Amino acid sequence: MRQLPVLDLPMPPAAALQPARRPSAPTPELVEYVTDDVVMPRFHIWTLGCQMNRSDSEEMAGALVAAGCSEAEGMATADLIVIDTCAIRESAEQKVIGRMGVLGRAKEADPSLRVVLTGCSVRDGDQGALKRRYPAVDLFLRPDQQTELVARLGLAGATTADRLPHARATAVAAGAVRRQDPISAWLPIIYGCDKTCTYCIVPLSRGPERSRPYDDVLAEARSLAELGYQEVTLLGQNVNSYGHDLPRDARFEGVRGGRRLGRSLDLDGRPDFATLLRGIDGHRDADGHPRIPRLRFVTSHPWDLTDQLIAAMAECPSVCEHLHLPIQSGDDAVLRRMGRQYTVSAYVELVDRLRAAVPEMSVTTDVIVGFSGETDAAFQRTLDLLSSVRYEKVFAAAFSVRPGTPAARLPDDVPPAIKRERLNALLALQEGIGQAVHQQQVGRVFEVLVEGMRRTAPGGHVEPVQQLSGRDRQHRLVHLDGPVELIGQRVPVLIERAGPYALVGHLTA
Ligand code: SAM
Ligand code: SF4
Ligand code: F3S
Repeated sequence: MRQLPVLDLPMPPAAALQPARRPSAPTPELVEYVTDDVVMPRFHIWTLGCQMNRSDSEEMAGALVAAGCSEAEGMATADLIVIDTCAIRESAEQKVIGRMGVLGRAKEADPSLRVVLTGCSVRDGDQGALKRRYPAVDLFLRPDQQTELVARLGLAGATTADRLPHARATAVAAGAVRRQDPISAWLPIIYGCDKTCTYCIVPLSRGPERSRPYDDVLAEARSLAELGYQEVTLLGQNVNSYGHDLPRDARFEGVRGGRRLGRSLDLDGRPDFATLLRGIDGHRDADGHPRIPRLRFVTSHPWDLTDQLIAAMAECPSVCEHLHLPIQSGDDAVLRRMGRQYTVSAYVELVDRLRAAVPEMSVTTDVIVGFSGETDAAFQRTLDLLSSVRYEKVFAAAFSVRPGTPAARLPDDVPPAIKRERLNALLALQEGIGQAVHQQQVGRVFEVLVEGMRRTAPGGHVEPVQQLSGRDRQHRLVHLDGPVELIGQRVPVLIERAGPYALVGHLTA
């Protein structure tokens, strides 16, 4: 089955959008909620896209709750619908555009319903064009304007918009982040992207890189440890370029920039990503164990996989043995047109260095097939790369032209049928590699953080032993039988069987 990096939460069926009873709002204009007159709205957030959006939505939900709103059971009973969009491929945008008719009819039936559209589909520019594309929407907010949501709706308790990196700390300190998972938490550390990938909309939608202050990140990590989180995932489009935009600080005078690829970066005297990992890992209990047992991060860029970072990954016990390192193509000419500014051999050398430093490391990647000018031979080089690197998992997608990006000026010259064919060939190859890589784990014991039940028992009654799922430190999906009390615990599991996408095992001593 085709696997994509984009995680879409399912949208309810169209019928579910029929309006339910709602309090009346006094004006159809944008600043519509006059809080003296109306009941505070019940809201529903529809989140598309990657972990950044999931984390942003947690923050928006927290801000709405802090302002006195409540969460609706679903879209049908909501007075306020917030759509957190993804623009990475046209198909992601079409999902939302395709819902405009239903939302428009729901608004006609109940004029008090308000729809806010935010996320990566909202970029600076023509508001008129946005309104034509998304006619049911009342308010558009760019990702960096999400902190204004409550104020722009005129809701009580509204705070003034703050700069993004600082607003997060305020929200965390006020307990106003509505985290969706009690075991594993997102922790955004850097917003935006400064890279030069010609196909990608993210620098346009999320703006330049802005790092959160080092002490704010550490404070949030400590608060997560106190709340008992077993796993924290540091988030950013390029987490590992963290810190270059922060002021110099005497505490970090030993830090030196270590980039060998891409544009040069001035990290001297600033907290770089390796320093940040060491700082979070250094938060220990009385026995010397990291208070956050599992520390992960996505996404990393090859430019910033420095020797300092590899050393930190090798030396910090909480940092999991998994790296998601997008390659995008196995052909140097395609990489050049993509603006990735590295060669295949430079990338492979990085992976070799990493694996030498951390032998249990699992590596996953992203690939785009059918980019402008990709020949059969170039595509074959991508397949060859997959065969030689042997990734645990590959997230692959067909190239989708994004208006406004540099690649939109290149010919989209690989026909859709060939893109599909290449995607299928790549996924078939990777299925075999995934199976073989997983097979090597049979008979070994891994620590699994149990995340939930795989499926409920037939008939809905609770069985004493359930099929549970979790992840090992290498981020492999592991199924096992056990009591539901294990959810949230890290347990040793002996692997008995392997498939291309998951392992199956049982609890062991
Ligand atoms: N910042 C990360 C990086 O360096 O690759 C990931 C960014 S993006 C949110 C996730 C993936 O979407 C990319 O790695 C790329 O494979 C894919 N992607 C981005 N733009 C695309 C496009 N125009 N068409 C198809 N896939 C795209
Ligand atoms: Fe997009 Fe490239 Fe930035 Fe990743 S590094 S978000 S692929 S521009
Ligand atoms: Fe999509 Fe924006 Fe994430 S374009 S993948 S939601 S950064």
